[in-house]
Amino acid sequence: MRLLPSSRIFVAGHRGMVGSAIVRALQQEGCNGLILRSRAELDLTDERAVRSLITAERPDIVVLAAAKVGGIQANNSFPADFIRDNLAIQSNVLNASLDAGVQRLLFMGSSCIYPRECPQPIRESYLLTGPLEPTNEAYAVAKIAGITTCRAFNRQHGTAYLPVMPCNLYGPNDNYHPTNSHVIPALLRRFHEAARRGDQEVVMWGTGQPLREFLHADDLAAACLMLLRDTDEAELINVGAGADQSIRAIAELVAEIVGFGGTITHDLSKPDGTPRKIMDIERIRALGWQPSISLRDGLRGVYASLTAPGGLWAE
Ligand SMILES: NC(=O)c1ccc[n+]([C@@H]2O[C@H](COP(=O)([O-])OP(=O)(O)OC[C@H]3O[C@@H](n4cnc5c(N)ncnc54)[C@H](OP(=O)(O)O)[C@@H]3O)[C@@H](O)[C@H]2O)c1
Repeated sequence: MRLLPSSRIFVAGHRGMVGSAIVRALQQEGCNGLILRSRAELDLTDERAVRSLITAERPDIVVLAAAKVGGIQANNSFPADFIRDNLAIQSNVLNASLDAGVQRLLFMGSSCIYPRECPQPIRESYLLTGPLEPTNEAYAVAKIAGITTCRAFNRQHGTAYLPVMPCNLYGPNDNYHPTNSHVIPALLRRFHEAARRGDQEVVMWGTGQPLREFLHADDLAAACLMLLRDTDEAELINVGAGADQSIRAIAELVAEIVGFGGTITHDLSKPDGTPRKIMDIERIRALGWQPSISLRDGLRGVYASLTAPGGLWAE
């Protein structure tokens, strides 16, 4: 079942950064048959409630963009919550979808679940070839179980449940929690606050030399739409920016965008993490997608909406 404007699509997690980007893309595509439930209306860890929704609504396509997500600190401090919630959400949505006859589903994986010491750039075939990053092992094992479930359902039941592997993302509706956010929102917050206070210095952890790739959530959503609309792909596929930059270069860009005029220094007693992390995106490029939003444009847009009237940081 390929995506059509008339398709009925259940987007689980539609208020999150990824889910909301996918909803925007589907609406731009003219899809009106969206099935959306907030967490208050449907707790995805509640098996009976999930089954009842999917059985009653009978979507043509399910997009699973709901998950318990967090930065290193949260993953490291609450591994039980990460494995428990994610296994529950995935199993409930995947099992109910299969049982209701849903043929097409998109499952959101993550580049952080590839083995810790992967050759670079990371190919899809490297999954499950080595030990995981210990700080997010519980999250990664849950996600890998979801991918293996998709593969097993496809093999045994002939479904086309597609696991997508995005790199680090940023975009509207990101999480700006002071201790539980990803790299870009954390940098935006730190430099924004430093600029407002008139600080002369921002200290970064480590050397700033590690290389990372970041993709705008709208680019990921465009990739998901293309995969659902134009292909029958059901094997794990990377969606990345195809280019990386040093953390220092990203920090300088953020500083420029938020108007921080001080200096950026480094606390070299803090660890750097993996020197380079970038995904190989040849498979999705060959299918006709490529990223279209530069980091500079993407960050400018995100910061403009954070500080616009009604935005999270409006003055
Ligand atoms: N962010 C990244 O850099 C990144 C990178 C690679 C992959 N991904 C993957 O993309 C997916 C979405 O991530 P995201 O960044 O969009 O996360 P997010 O902004 O935190 O969104 C997750 C959504 O899931 C919902 N949710 C969580 N638990 C739920 C529950 N028990 N019942 C109902 N809804 C629940 C949340 O609802 P509330 O709004 O009520 O909390 C939220 O809307 C995840 O699978 C993640 O692994 C993200």
